Amino acid sequence: MILDFIDQNKSRYEDELKAFLRIPSISTSPEHKGEVRRCAEFVSDELKRIGLQNVGIYETAGHPVVYGERLDGGAGAPTVLFYGHYDVQPVDPLNLWTNPPFEPTIKGDNIYARGSVDDKGQVWLQLKAIEAHLRTNGALPVNVKVMIEGEEEIGSPNLDKFLADHKDLLACDTVLVSDTPMFGYDQPSLCYGLRGLCYMQVEVTGPNRDLHSGFFGGAVANPINALGVMISKLKDEKGKILIDGFYDNVVAITDRERAEFAKLPYDRKAFMADLETDATPGEEGYSELERMWTRPTLDCNGIWGGFQGEGAKTVLPSKAHAKISMRLVPGQSPEEIAKKFEAFIMKIKPAGVKVNVIDLHGGMPAMTPIDSRGMTAARKAMHEVFGKEPFLTREGGSIPIVNSFSSILGAPTVLMGFGLPDQDAHSPNEKMNLNNFHRGIKCGALFFEYMKA
Ligand code: BES
Ligand code: ZN
Repeated sequence: MILDFIDQNKSRYEDELKAFLRIPSISTSPEHKGEVRRCAEFVSDELKRIGLQNVGIYETAGHPVVYGERLDGGAGAPTVLFYGHYDVQPVDPLNLWTNPPFEPTIKGDNIYARGSVDDKGQVWLQLKAIEAHLRTNGALPVNVKVMIEGEEEIGSPNLDKFLADHKDLLACDTVLVSDTPMFGYDQPSLCYGLRGLCYMQVEVTGPNRDLHSGFFGGAVANPINALGVMISKLKDEKGKILIDGFYDNVVAITDRERAEFAKLPYDRKAFMADLETDATPGEEGYSELERMWTRPTLDCNGIWGGFQGEGAKTVLPSKAHAKISMRLVPGQSPEEIAKKFEAFIMKIKPAGVKVNVIDLHGGMPAMTPIDSRGMTAARKAMHEVFGKEPFLTREGGSIPIVNSFSSILGAPTVLMGFGLPDQDAHSPNEKMNLNNFHRGIKCGALFFEYMKA
């Protein structure tokens, strides 16, 4: 039976995953363009190897999309489109990794590597679920299409066009995505809401060149100070974002959701202990889960300028920069918020500096129905594998294309993920729990089964 087959192949699955993880497919880094392509080829070879048909690497204006399908179910059967991403985030700061990020290492129950949980491990587990059907039954219970992209971590800038250009190829009843965390190690969850993102860069220029801070200090605007002043005006002490009109279209959390989230066993003490912090600051009037899942935020992601070396240099710098991103919720769009952000920055800009605001990328928030056929199949599959009913959660991260699956393809998405919140996605020492990787393969296999019934 298929679950036994999955149990018998564990070590092969782990070896294969390691090969996938060795490819440094960092989509944001121009130097890695060749590696990103090599990774697309690796995925495409695997789709062919497991027995998918019509496999192809599709060019886009950026990194390629890999597609394959197996329409065993026939015309009357439901069609599932599995979506994932083969690109990964940058690895810096490299010195904080205990193993090199692209030399996957198993320690205890975890495999450590960049992309292990986000999202290569979770892509691989679904490909193994498909393979398990083909190897044990010679066919899939439903029609399955697979689309794995290489630009998710940079906001999927070319995927809407790909969807619109290939509507027939991608036509489906349900989209399946495994790129979200579970609530806890033994506690599966199905996510029905994701935040969006608006990612901006602010460049501040003071004098036309770096200056001696003794000669000039006192009569010249310092761009780092100016940037600090501007950043401090973006939020008040109660965590409210002060950009004009920022909350205009925000869809509020419902009473029902509030009640449901309040029942979840969120443990503030454990949360703080894991992060070694002594407080969980944020917008007044909302619980941590509400703030992380349903409220918009604004955070600086990077800031630089002036002297960064060891020791001291009395310089009055010419330039300062900050990367600032905002997580968005239903009702908001990256375009709307980018405009409001820029207008506000220009309004609060101190005298003596020039400011340039760049829109780096963004993504729409998304909500998915909780009562779809796919959700029912996913719930059943997770219950069977984990022995527990999955929690219904929202999440604070973004998967930009999920909104387009409903707006362009007209299909609801099921977010059945197998990560954990402490697996350090995007951080040094990213890891994936291998028990949940193998349980994920079983969930995937059963999901396809239950989509048929
Ligand atoms: N896997 C994440 C999305 C995610 C993270 C969902 C946490 C739920 C909880 C995905 O790969 C990701 O990191 N997306 C980016 C998208 C952005 C660059 C547009 C993100 O959220 O930062
Ligand atoms: Zn990610």
